[in-house]
Amino acid sequence: MNVLPPPYTFDDDTEPMATSEGRPPVVEVLSAEKLFPNGTRGLAPIDLTIADGEFLTLIGPSGCGKSTLLKLIANLIEPTDGRLLWWRGDHRQVGQQGRRLAFVFQEPTLMPWARVEANVRLPLELADMPGVKAAPLVEDAIARVGLSAFSQHYPRQLSGGMRMRVSIARALVTQPHLLLMDEPFGALDEFTRNRLDDDLVRLWWERKLTTVFVTHSIYEAVFLSTRIIVMAAGPGRIFRTMTIDEPQPREVGFRDSPKFAAYCRELSTWLAEASLPRSGGGEA
Ligand SMILES: Nc1ncnc2c1ncn2[C@@H]1O[C@H](COP(=O)(O)OP(=O)(O)OP(=O)(O)O)[C@@H](O)[C@H]1O
Ligand SMILES: [Mg+2]
Repeated sequence: MNVLPPPYTFDDDTEPMATSEGRPPVVEVLSAEKLFPNGTRGLAPIDLTIADGEFLTLIGPSGCGKSTLLKLIANLIEPTDGRLLWWRGDHRQVGQQGRRLAFVFQEPTLMPWARVEANVRLPLELADMPGVKAAPLVEDAIARVGLSAFSQHYPRQLSGGMRMRVSIARALVTQPHLLLMDEPFGALDEFTRNRLDDDLVRLWWERKLTTVFVTHSIYEAVFLSTRIIVMAAGPGRIFRTMTIDEPQPREVGFRDSPKFAAYCRELSTWLAEASLPRSGGGEA
């Protein structure tokens, strides 16, 4: 499902800026921590600033708090302590300011009884957008994920990769300013995943759409991201940060380059360290 906390206005068609220079950060996580009611420490206090236009990836061993941090950024869960700012302001005000965010989960969770077009239109319907205004947005979002020829199909008539594309179109249709994705391609085969990664890079670049992405794949993290955060568990925390300072948008050939291999090797070493019991911890 995609999250679109009301009330959102759709009158502000703010175009994303070409660079983050002079633009306020999109998200600031200020010493935010999460203690679950059952006593589990999901997250130790975390400080994190996400710049406009960044493609930030969270990676780390299972249970290290990636989903918890993503949900905290989306304000789907409240921090036990600390604060969250969106666009330098109180996140509760953001909807009224024409800022929107969208959340894509690992499962596409489409309505099986509705055609692709209706599935993609859902967030606009929930926001009471008139049909005439919604129609071109829906058409555009479906075209962006390459499914124009399938808009009248039902989910059961689509492959897993295509269903995930529908889910992404449903996120894009709201023209979000912040896109949050929790292992969206985790259930797909590697070939399909690579194709979707190529498309995601293009979509991100076209709109300079600030994105926070969770994955277990080292290759996917290096290919997509401008910055990667390696998290460690016990309790969930930022272990190390890697900047991928390579030309954008990433070309398919980047995957075959020696630099790509070097990034992957280093990230793999860090992940192994982060997975050790009570791993060293602290920011590198
Ligand atoms: N609602 C909850 N109540 C209690 N504990 C929770 C809750 N949600 C998550 N946790 C715990 O918080 C920790 C972090 O969980 P989280 O789901 O964020 O990990 P993750 O890094 O996303 O793992 P995975 O890679 O398996 O998806 C884990 O110990 C988990 O058991
Ligand atoms: Mg998770």
